[in-house]
Amino acid sequence: MKRDLLRLVDLARDECTALFALAAEIKAALRSGKPEHLLAGKTLAMIFEKPSLRTRVSFETGMFQLGGHAIYLAPWDIRLGERESVADVARNLARVVDMIVARTFRHEVLVELAAHATVPVINGLTDLHHPCQVLADLFTLVEQRRRLDDIRVAFVGDGNNLVHSWMEAAAVFRFTLAVACPAGYEPDAALLADCRARGARIEITRSVIDAARGADVLYTDVWTSMGQEDEAAERRAHFKDYQINDEALRHAAKDALVMHCLPAHRGEEITDAVIESRQSIVFDQAENRLHLQKALMAWLARESGT
Ligand code: CP
Ligand code: NVA
Repeated sequence: MKRDLLRLVDLARDECTALFALAAEIKAALRSGKPEHLLAGKTLAMIFEKPSLRTRVSFETGMFQLGGHAIYLAPWDIRLGERESVADVARNLARVVDMIVARTFRHEVLVELAAHATVPVINGLTDLHHPCQVLADLFTLVEQRRRLDDIRVAFVGDGNNLVHSWMEAAAVFRFTLAVACPAGYEPDAALLADCRARGARIEITRSVIDAARGADVLYTDVWTSMGQEDEAAERRAHFKDYQINDEALRHAAKDALVMHCLPAHRGEEITDAVIESRQSIVFDQAENRLHLQKALMAWLARESGT
């Protein structure tokens, strides 16, 4: 049966661990100048309804390095659900390509794509989830020799798609996630209840300092996500105190790591000094998107028998 990655809990803990091991192997092979062509002759369709730097470049480069080929489909190329129904796009693509990655606004569109495609579908970010980012982040923490079942992660900012994937990661690995957000910007209540029912330890607080206290990881993301541009001014006012800065860092563990999925708005959710500090690993995260997603594509192809 084919496997998809639509949200982080689609993977069991041992599957995540296997992915991290494969990503480390693939990263080492690339560094040694002998990339493994695990997907020779395979093709990846990349559907994007929103802009992207990291996701597009890492998937496209990753497929090339694995011996395959990737096709970028911009919003105006296929006009998903307008020029053609989501189901028909999925059925057409699945007859030609071996895998699909999609970045959509509504998560339901991705779910529909996956339901009608007979090839693996990967979430390249939706309004609800961003599992590839958080898997690459977890891999980055493993590289930093952090034990995933024994950390405190403080997320400062909007209860958005990134937070939702972090909540699911907390359910899979059982670490503590503390989310500091303004009133009205909490993560999705049903998803929060679901993650807690799965065993996640998640704290929601208004206080950046309370979240940051003793944290091993300080994480943040933009105040205004793609698709929310009309709310940018209002959000800037509501989020002005939700910043990772020197004070937040002072309350975290001495060896705390600073993480950001990027793109960053310096001076808003994070200060320039903190993102440039030696505790910041934001560009390791960005690089690891490549290695982790190569492992993910190879693993999904193997699991799905494609
Ligand atoms: N972090 C991330 O997904 O970046 P892009 O939006 O540039 O792909
Ligand atoms: N929350 C952000 C993440 C960007 C990678 C957004 O959805 O725009």
